Amino acid sequence: MTFLNLAKKRYSVRHYTSQKVEIEKLEQILAAAQAAPTACNKQPVHMLIIQEENGLQKLSKAANIFCAPLAILICADSSKAWTRPHDGKKTTDIDASILTDHMMLEAADLGLGSVWICNFKPDVVREEFCLPDNLEPINLLAIGYTDETPQSPDRHAKMRKPISEMISYETM
Ligand SMILES: Cc1cc2nc3c(=O)[nH]c(=O)nc-3n(C[C@H](O)[C@H](O)[C@H](O)COP(=O)(O)O)c2cc1C
Repeated sequence: MTFLNLAKKRYSVRHYTSQKVEIEKLEQILAAAQAAPTACNKQPVHMLIIQEENGLQKLSKAANIFCAPLAILICADSSKAWTRPHDGKKTTDIDASILTDHMMLEAADLGLGSVWICNFKPDVVREEFCLPDNLEPINLLAIGYTDETPQSPDRHAKMRKPISEMISYETM
C-alpha cells in the first residue's frame, strides 16, 4: 500500500473488540515511534504503555478510551526539548505529536484501529500513574481491533477543507 493510501484509509476508531494487541505489533508500533524525528534529535519523549486491566481502569478515570485494550500515554520533558533561540519556543508538543502520528499510522498499517486522545484530565493521569514532575502528559493513543464498519478512504473530499483553502502560493 502506498503511504497516501494508508493515510487515507486510517480513521479514528471509537469502538473496539476485546482482542488484545499482539506483542509483536506493539513492538512494531514502538519501533515507528523510535524512528520519528524530534527537533535537534533531542528526544524529550517518554511513553507509558497501558494494557493491564488495572492500568486501563486507572486511565478510564482520566479519559474515555473507548474500551480499547491498549493505550499509549505520550509524555515529554520540556526541559529536554529543543528551544528556538529567537523566541524561546519549545518543540515539546511537536516532538510528542510526531511520535504519536508515526504510531497511529503504523497501527493502521498493521490492521489495527486507533484514536488520538487529548481530552483527558492531566492532573488525574499524573496522580494515577505517579508521573514525575518533569514529564507532561501530552497525547494518548488508544489502539485495538476495530469493531466498526471501516470509513471510506475517499471521505476526505467531503470531511476536510478543500486543499485550495489550506494553502497559498507565495508570489512575491
Ligand atoms: C490533536 C488531536 C486530539 C484529538 N483528541 C481527541 C479526543 O480527545 N477524543 C476523540 O474522540 N478524538 C480525538 N481526536 C480525533 C479527531 O477528532 C479526529 O482525528 C478527527 O475528527 C478526524 O477524523 P479521522 O481521524 O477519522 O480522520 C483527536 C485528534 C487529534 C489530531
